[in-house]
Amino acid sequence: MPDKKIGIVTGGGDCPGLNAVIRAIVKAGTMDGYASIGIKGGLDGLLTPVQAEPLTLKDMDGMLIRGGTILGTANSGRFAAKTGKGKTRKVPQKTLDEAKKNFEALGLTGLVIIGGDGSLTTAHQMFDMGFPVVGVPKTIDNDLDATQMTFGFETAVACAVDALDRLHSTAQSHNRVMVLEVMGRYAGWIAAYAGLAGGADVILIPEIPFTLAAVEKKILEREVQGKHFTIVVVAEGVSLDHKQISQDKGAADREIRLGGVGHQLASQIQSLTGKDSRCVVLGHLQRGGQPTAWDRQLCTRFGVRAVRMLAKKQFGKMVALQANGMMGAVSLKNAVNKIRTVEANGELIMTARALGISFGNQV
Ligand code: F6P
Repeated sequence: MPDKKIGIVTGGGDCPGLNAVIRAIVKAGTMDGYASIGIKGGLDGLLTPVQAEPLTLKDMDGMLIRGGTILGTANSGRFAAKTGKGKTRKVPQKTLDEAKKNFEALGLTGLVIIGGDGSLTTAHQMFDMGFPVVGVPKTIDNDLDATQMTFGFETAVACAVDALDRLHSTAQSHNRVMVLEVMGRYAGWIAAYAGLAGGADVILIPEIPFTLAAVEKKILEREVQGKHFTIVVVAEGVSLDHKQISQDKGAADREIRLGGVGHQLASQIQSLTGKDSRCVVLGHLQRGGQPTAWDRQLCTRFGVRAVRMLAKKQFGKMVALQANGMMGAVSLKNAVNKIRTVEANGELIMTARALGISFGNQV
């Protein structure tokens, strides 16, 4: 086995394309004379007893298209650094020391941490205490400010659009209102893109506060136009009656679990309009399955760039897709804890409004 070794770890919620990034790192790393070591079960795999295993070129067969992560992952536990919207905590020094000792015992040259804002916040803390880390931005939420796009997002949007295509025909057949609840945490990217691509009539996102009266008005307007069905896309992070709906309250080592607004919305729409209304919560379907072609190329470029950065000792940085479409790098310090949200008056929203799509804020 070569002396130079890249450690690879996947952290946070899983997302389509994680294996494609791992594959790119292993393949490009092999070409550059590195061995690759997969850390299993998220960063906790660096704690005693260490869970790590070599990743070979042979192991990478089929990984470009395989969903999930072959390394396993965790979005809670001893390395959790993000505990809520804008809330972080310091990973205990004891945990970092233990991981450092094991990192050195494994003889790793550097560690590529593939994760969202939470795992990258941890990556930043690890860099500050001397770990040679490089970050790769992952999340279906697409909410990291320092990159034009995260991988997994495009696949999640494709999944939501497929659901909308299917919901259209059943909504139309029954003259119903169909509400599709999508993920995205505090950002409305999945809802906005899927709503536009899937022909939604109403899109509700956290960035644009809405009223039920405006949603009702849109549905009744459509009735007058002879359109007796309506498709509503709602992001899980919207506030209904000034409250965000969640499944739990989170924990010291874990963020709150959003979700549930879709059913409440459908029931209120039914009461207001008298129209039969149903809700589908897309949930983790958005996180599963094969990455799209776009995500595969993005993952591959992210992975190769991460290896280049590691070889050049550009530690403490995250790979990023720049506005000009090229790969770049940003410091983890500037990348974390800066959530990118949908611009309420941006081109994306204005395009949707030009078609008559309602965001529930105009009565
Ligand atoms: O951050 C990705 C994400 O899928 C969010 O969109 C969602 O709110 C959350 O993770 C769900 O987390 P869990 O897998 O813990 O239910």
